[in-house]
Amino acid sequence: MTTWPAGQGGQRGRTPVRATAYASDDSARQRPGTPVASSHPEPPTELDGPLELDPGDWRARDVYFLMTGLVIPRPIAWVSTRSADGVRNLAPHSYFQAVSNDPPHVVFASTGVKDTLRNVRETGEFVVNLVSADLVEPMNFTATDFPPGEDEFTWAGLTETAAHRVAAPRVAEAHAHLECELRQEVAVGNGNLVIAEVVHVHVAPDLWREGRIDPEAYDPVCRLAGTSYATLGEVFKLPRPSWERDVRGTGPGEAIPRRD
Ligand SMILES: Cc1cc2nc3c(=O)[nH]c(=O)nc-3n(C[C@H](O)[C@H](O)[C@H](O)COP(=O)(O)O)c2cc1C
Repeated sequence: MTTWPAGQGGQRGRTPVRATAYASDDSARQRPGTPVASSHPEPPTELDGPLELDPGDWRARDVYFLMTGLVIPRPIAWVSTRSADGVRNLAPHSYFQAVSNDPPHVVFASTGVKDTLRNVRETGEFVVNLVSADLVEPMNFTATDFPPGEDEFTWAGLTETAAHRVAAPRVAEAHAHLECELRQEVAVGNGNLVIAEVVHVHVAPDLWREGRIDPEAYDPVCRLAGTSYATLGEVFKLPRPSWERDVRGTGPGEAIPRRD
């Protein structure tokens, strides 16, 4: 395995950890806190062994591609807002997740401060338009670095429909929407995490089957790294076991449910 020689200057002003132990050395793994040198000073074309990385040792852009390649698939919040002056804004954010259900809350993160975040700060409101495969091109188009004051609804030829609880516009072409009120903003690294309560939900009938969202009818698009996207692929069911009903009294590995 290649180790990054000690003293070879960190990419972001940090001195790399001296190679006192190697990742392949099991004794190092058994002692949490034992420094393990980063195995590669930058992303190699091919990996000749396991990658071991202190994220501070790579350029931020390379860590971004690594993280967004590993943490996949990411759902996409297509966030619509209105500025205090009334200008509409629309931009995708894949640092997005649902984090609570009672009452429902979602989070998204802005890398730095962009028009979306500025508008959320000004108004305390936004709409998450959920992105089905039929909307992937206009969604991507609205990630263009339009100057502030440009209306992405108009540029993308999208239709506005009114929200019920917030003044932010909804994308009429989307099949589901979450109307959100800002609850908290937290600075995290170079990002700003927006925590919001979902105060109203819209779902079009075509997404609904047997009392629930039908994932295949919904057909969401998710983001991978860079310009790569994916749709759902195979959908399968896997029952969740209960200790009392399924696991207690069995041996290791015996009670693991199999997928349909
Ligand atoms: C699929 C996709 C996901 C994105 N996710 C994020 C994100 O999570 N955070 C972010 O700051 N920018 C993200 N971007 C980039 C923004 O959409 C882009 O910078 C946009 O121009 C911001 O617009 P605004 O200034 O109107 O808010 C993403 C872009 C795409 C295409």
